[in-house]
Amino acid sequence: MNLLESIKEKARKNQQRIVLPESDDERTLQAAEIIIEENLAQVILLGNKERIEADAERLGLKKLGKAEIVDPKSHAKKESYIQLMLELRKSKGLTYEEASRLIEDPLYLGTLIIKAGDADGEVAGAKNATGDVLRPAFQYVKTLPGISVVSGAFLMILKDKEFGDDGLMVFADCAVHPDPTERELAEIAVATARTTKAIAGIEPRVAMLSFSTKGSAKHAMVDKVVNATRIAKEMAPDIQIDGELQADAAIIEAIGKSKAPGSPIAGKANVLVFPDLQSGNIAYKLVQRLAHAEAVGPVLQGMAAPINDLSRGCSVSDIVNLVAITANQSQKV
Ligand code: ACO
Repeated sequence: MNLLESIKEKARKNQQRIVLPESDDERTLQAAEIIIEENLAQVILLGNKERIEADAERLGLKKLGKAEIVDPKSHAKKESYIQLMLELRKSKGLTYEEASRLIEDPLYLGTLIIKAGDADGEVAGAKNATGDVLRPAFQYVKTLPGISVVSGAFLMILKDKEFGDDGLMVFADCAVHPDPTERELAEIAVATARTTKAIAGIEPRVAMLSFSTKGSAKHAMVDKVVNATRIAKEMAPDIQIDGELQADAAIIEAIGKSKAPGSPIAGKANVLVFPDLQSGNIAYKLVQRLAHAEAVGPVLQGMAAPINDLSRGCSVSDIVNLVAITANQSQKV
């Protein structure tokens, strides 16, 4: 069974309640139909019931009647969600009027439904920019205990099976946090190791990447990676992690042996943690394009409940796959 099939199989075994806030997007409705048909999750659509039913009819979608529909403008729990918003954002000066307006925004409502325990996860971003999906999630769902930063990992399925575990590697952060501090970089490494185990189903061997290997260069940017490696080891002594390593020393055995003799990771890494978002985002896109790798993600990690962001150019199957991944993540938290 390939990776996505096993992720779907796992989603089916313990169905989670996943919110799809963008019911005004045809791909989202088509994806909801497949998710219901394939028993991947219980779907909660946010939007006007009559409009969703009319769209379903027009698109020939027969299963959407099985989805729960929550209308942001009028639903039984609106007032209790507003009170929850006020409680969570009191210190930020949120007023009743602002909360009453925000709760009608499906991207805010989705996060409040999750925070209240009425759903397990969310997938959005087919119509909305990354920041608009993430901001309500950061504000209301927040991060896992001990983690202060959300980041995005990609499962990289390589054509060349010599790398990673039979061609499977995990890269992070490629999507969210532009310039992590050394503590945040350590958290990203630990979160990525956990994603690797939970979603990719392989034992992580984490390389903290830099332009230096074991002191070959001296620079404040290298110090950040050295310190992040130390902090990550302290945070999670059970995880195999090493740095700072150059990319070639991390993934090519002979180079790892010569540049970082004795390193348990050099030459064998299956998880690459990049020092900042510039390098991580550039690297995953280059590997995807130049090496024709399949890039699955971003899988957002570190959030107290899984909320994942789609690309606006996504296909129906991208949405279905990300819902299955989100369901797997929520089985873990
Ligand atoms: N993890 C957890 N919380 C965060 C994070 C984070 N990474 N970033 C911001 N926050 C919190 C802040 O602490 C703040 O919380 P508070 O209101 O309770 O105090 C809240 O979120 C808003 O913080 P801002 O600094 O105002 O965040 P902003 O909304 O400006 O930016 C964003 C957040 C949108 C994620 C920004 O970091 C960003 O644009 N990142 C890059 C996203 C991107 O473009 N990625 C590349 C494309 S994706 C791809 O190619 C696959």
